[in-house]
Amino acid sequence: MLDRESLGVFSEVAKKLDGGFASLPAFENQAPAMARLAEVLGAAAERLQDNYPYFHPLYAGQMLKPPHPVARLAYALAMWINPNNHALDGGRATSAMEKEAVAEIAGMYGWKNFLGHLCGGGTMANLEALWVAGQGHPGKKILASEQAHYTHGRISGVLQLPFELVACDVRGRMDASALAKRVARGDVGTVVATMGTTATGSMDPLPDILALGEKHGFRVHADAAYGGYFVLAENLGEEAKRAFARVGEADSIVIDPHKHGLQPYGCGCVLFRDPEVGRLYKHDSPYTYFSSAELHLGEISLECSRPGAAAAALWATQRLLPLKKGGEFARGLESGRKAALALFEKVRADERFVTAFAPELDIIVFAPRAASVSEASDLSRKVFEASARHDLHLAVAELPVRFWEADLGAMKRDRETMTCLRSVLMKPEHLDWVERIWDLLSLAVNEVASGRH
Ligand SMILES: Cc1ncc(COP(=O)(O)O)c(C=O)c1O
Repeated sequence: MLDRESLGVFSEVAKKLDGGFASLPAFENQAPAMARLAEVLGAAAERLQDNYPYFHPLYAGQMLKPPHPVARLAYALAMWINPNNHALDGGRATSAMEKEAVAEIAGMYGWKNFLGHLCGGGTMANLEALWVAGQGHPGKKILASEQAHYTHGRISGVLQLPFELVACDVRGRMDASALAKRVARGDVGTVVATMGTTATGSMDPLPDILALGEKHGFRVHADAAYGGYFVLAENLGEEAKRAFARVGEADSIVIDPHKHGLQPYGCGCVLFRDPEVGRLYKHDSPYTYFSSAELHLGEISLECSRPGAAAAALWATQRLLPLKKGGEFARGLESGRKAALALFEKVRADERFVTAFAPELDIIVFAPRAASVSEASDLSRKVFEASARHDLHLAVAELPVRFWEADLGAMKRDRETMTCLRSVLMKPEHLDWVERIWDLLSLAVNEVASGRH
């Protein structure tokens, strides 16, 4: 798990950072109880062992991947300063780093003149985007698909904006004709287009949504929290490619560096195409903005204090792995996608499983074949547990039965949803581990089928 080499680099760069403050008079660090530091950290290390091994390729469950070593170390390095990116007064260097790193992210969508910043994560970023959307269309509806992240409904509640779900097609994408019918009835202020749904990685039909937005005058918000970086991948299907090519036409975009961007948790990003929305944030903070007339990030974000360390980590990661098509970072995303396609093909070709649809990004869903949907649902949970006993960690999801219709055959449709297995193959290492993952999955399914579990 530990990349010891990078720990060695850390003590070198920490000395370098220290050197920048060498002219200050020495002082005695009075952090209390240092004598028990090692003991307590040892206890913490023990407690932390009670986790799934998220960093390992055999963890192929939820949307979790380890930060790049450069992100971990840049974050840790910044912690010695503990800058606060609310204001230049609290985090001068890291505010500049944040502006640069965010501009690089916006650049992936062709945006140069925009407004944006980092925040705690996708939920906070979507809250901010929908807050701005609501100011533009007060009291009007926010629409998102049935498969959109659950927080959109909750966020709309917090913002006291009416919220409605739009049906999905059988591939888990927002149904463009259902949306067309709904917006024709009026009263819609904003449509959330999910660029990669959380459960299945399905891509909402952005070109259709943008066309309807043009006709009916609603705002389009792209929730690309999970899928956003795939704009750099060159091995996507045609529809996904077409949708990503248009993300820059949305009014706002959310993308999570702490999902596919190799960052530790606590790093989301919200971007607005029109920098003029900055006026909505206008507030006075006479006690924080005093050292510079330049933009303080707190003047354009809902949150006040934010970790400058997150900006340092992101900046360093993007310096090492620029956000470019064909670059090493993009190749990592492409590997995960290849792994998902390879595992999907194995599952699809095997009679023991039912599949819904081919992955659009790097998430696959499948279930054990059985006499009925309820039996398959029960078996999914058993396979999940049996796999874990062999150190293969998958996830479980609940999806509408109609997503599976094409492959259900004679299976009795005795439930409206099916509990299935879900695997997010988001680590570049997954590609080399597909065979091993498949072998362990086969083993687990056979054990469950033979009652040896
Ligand atoms: C599409 C989408 N939007 C929003 C979120 C929420 O992001 P966070 O968990 O960073 O708050 C997620 C999380 O998985 C997501 O997949």
